[in-house]
Amino acid sequence: MCGIVGFVGREEAAPILLDGLARLEYRGYDSAGVAVLDGQKLRVAKAKGRLRVLADMIQNGRAIHGTVGIGHTRWATHGAPSDVNAHPQVSRSGKIAVVHNGIIENYAQLKEFLMARGVDFASETDTEVVAQLIEHFYQGNLLDAVAKVLHRIEGAYSLGIVCADEPDQLIAVRKDSPLILGVGDGFSFLASDVTAIIKHTRDVMYMDDGEIAVLTCDGIQVYDSFLQPVEKTIARVDWEIDAAEKGGYEHFMLKEIMEQPDALRKAIFPRIRDGEVVLEDFGLTDEYIRQIEKIFIVACGSSYHVGMVGKYNLEQMLRIPVDVVLASEFRYMDPIVTEHTLVIVISQSGETLDTMAALRAAKGLGATILSIVNVVGSSIARESDTVLYTWAGPEIAVATTKAYSTQLAVLDLLGLYFARKLGTLPEERYQTVIQSLLLLPSQMEQVLECQANIQYLASQYFNHDSIFFIGRNLDYALGLEGSLKLKEISYIHSEAYASGELKHGTISLIEDGTLVVAVATYNRLFDKAMSNVVEVKSRGADVLALTTEDKAADMEKYANGIITIPETDEMLRPSLGVAPLQLLAYYIALMRGCDIDKPRNLAKSVTVE
Ligand code: G6P
Repeated sequence: MCGIVGFVGREEAAPILLDGLARLEYRGYDSAGVAVLDGQKLRVAKAKGRLRVLADMIQNGRAIHGTVGIGHTRWATHGAPSDVNAHPQVSRSGKIAVVHNGIIENYAQLKEFLMARGVDFASETDTEVVAQLIEHFYQGNLLDAVAKVLHRIEGAYSLGIVCADEPDQLIAVRKDSPLILGVGDGFSFLASDVTAIIKHTRDVMYMDDGEIAVLTCDGIQVYDSFLQPVEKTIARVDWEIDAAEKGGYEHFMLKEIMEQPDALRKAIFPRIRDGEVVLEDFGLTDEYIRQIEKIFIVACGSSYHVGMVGKYNLEQMLRIPVDVVLASEFRYMDPIVTEHTLVIVISQSGETLDTMAALRAAKGLGATILSIVNVVGSSIARESDTVLYTWAGPEIAVATTKAYSTQLAVLDLLGLYFARKLGTLPEERYQTVIQSLLLLPSQMEQVLECQANIQYLASQYFNHDSIFFIGRNLDYALGLEGSLKLKEISYIHSEAYASGELKHGTISLIEDGTLVVAVATYNRLFDKAMSNVVEVKSRGADVLALTTEDKAADMEKYANGIITIPETDEMLRPSLGVAPLQLLAYYIALMRGCDIDKPRNLAKSVTVE
């Protein structure tokens, strides 16, 4: 939540900051601002609303001069979206400006402390406290003042700080909130995420918690919280700038849906060799794997839904009990964890705060942590005992698509890897799943060809107020994701139910014309799925069914609309079935005129609790 960017170099900073913010806008978009140093003074411009409002106000950056600056795009936590609550927040002398992603938990006490000393506050934000506190401690050395402040603030934060009295530098700080540094020839960057700077440099440093960095044109020096210099290594980002651009698509979401076949290829192909799953640099020994007694899968949002599918598949393959728990619940539970408990943490961003907290809680209890993460070098990846990357490339649309598919594929590969070590899956089935995984990318291409059919179906249903998803077992897990996709981007009320629960309440909501999406790809339970379809139909529902090609003829007898996926191993059906549900949500949202890539109130990376 919130995107921050900072630049120090020899070119005008404001246009570079605006461009960086445009790439971070997915992180928050209720207001934006920049602060630029022109050698003497700090120039600040902020505006409520989308970044466009700010860009127009400062003529795309031409109206503000200076080569050092910071920028921010906000997802409001403390104080409603407004010009005054927008960042940068500035100290009362107007000399120190701060951009912040995260939450300062003890801001109220610090505010009281400063107010008792005569400091007036202009905004309702927690961030202003940081700017004012730095000024309070400032005695001609910004780095010293920032270090003092860090020992007093609590919470999660990444900060970009400038001071008019030290106009050649930027300061960056990180604790429990993402921040990377970009190393260039004659310039340096700080940013919440690599997409903001990839156009300028691929050389990055990943900051660790508690570190402070001083950025100048000539380079970056990182310190620990006691101001001892820290040696950092420079990593090279290996994806192309086009990966973070729309490339002719109207929305990032559609582009990312269409990228799924390739993303699956990258996630699967390098990990299957000679009919066997190979996980390079994998941190769990065979001996440890043989001693696993219990698996928790911990995640939020769509990553949690991947975990739901994972539970069914891992239990089937391994015969080890698997519990899927929302990270926000896990962190406050009293989970039964031993050294033989494996916690699988799933996160696209690798920065979701609840997931991070759950990871730390599990680690504290002695569990081994394996994470499935997309963003290389992210906090979750770095704090895990071992990581499997999804290699899906940057995902920009708030509603995740290709990250979901690749997480699922990686989890299935992991299941196969464990199953081989444990001898729990008959060889024939092992080979069937391997072959099915290898076919998945091209089958996904085939599924995506149904775009026109889905567009047509969306035109039939886009004006419904309420849409239900039903399914059993893996189909229920898939329905949860289909329903989430729909509600997050189209704002249609939607819920997913395990079909068996229909009669325990939900069926009372079915009336003439209610749309029920029946997910029926799990052929073992197809007859049960059909019975539920008949039940809701007889109460007036319209049924849109998602099933496999060989069951289409049976389903057509009852359903009003039908979407099919090709035959694959039953465990992999959610991997194919998710694509039509993503497209359905996309086209329904498009027809309703919604802001698909930036749905209201949401942010891609949820770095607050
Ligand atoms: C946000 C995003 C979701 C995502 C969830 C978990 O809510 O909008 O798409 O599934 O966070 O994010 P993570 O990065 O941990 O997978």
